[in-house]
Amino acid sequence: MTRPFSKSIAWAAAAAAFLALGACNDAPATAEPPLAGADIGGAFALTDQDGKTVRDSDLDGKYRIVYFGYTYCPDVCPVDLQVISKGLSQFEKAHPDRADDIQPIFISVDPGRDTPEVMKAYVSAFHPRLIGLTGTAEQVRAVADKYGVYSQVSETEGASEYLVDHTNAVYLMGRKGEPLALLPGDGTPEQMAEEIEKWTRG
Ligand code: NI
Repeated sequence: MTRPFSKSIAWAAAAAAFLALGACNDAPATAEPPLAGADIGGAFALTDQDGKTVRDSDLDGKYRIVYFGYTYCPDVCPVDLQVISKGLSQFEKAHPDRADDIQPIFISVDPGRDTPEVMKAYVSAFHPRLIGLTGTAEQVRAVADKYGVYSQVSETEGASEYLVDHTNAVYLMGRKGEPLALLPGDGTPEQMAEEIEKWTRG
């Protein structure tokens, strides 16, 4: 299924920077993160899988891996979340001292079905520290917009459940919530672990 990307110029520029970087994977540790200065991310207040309010500022001091999707997603989300979770687990094994520094976050683009209870069962299947955030339609739309994430309900005639087309970018954000890099959700767990390591040395 194709996932139309946001037409945001900032996002396009960031993606171009990422692709350029991908051609040369041995950038020095001091290289500027490809999304540095991009207009991605920002303040949010959403509800986690335990029904508690989580604000972006609650995560200050930690790097964040941010991925938008929905639990009913039949194909793309589960695969991407597996790569994120396995890659993060590999990173944690290789760098146990840095594991707690990185918070994985899954934000629903389908809050009508993704209640905290549904999110709780879902995120626990992937990674023990994965936070699942949901909220009102307005709340999740506002956060998705800040990340340049497109989502659109897609009704299929005769089907009992609807689908949601959505951008499946994996964002790595810094300790203050600033954008750093796009992570390879379509890559291997090894590639995911390498990219996490590369941009979280500080
Ligand atoms: Ni999906």
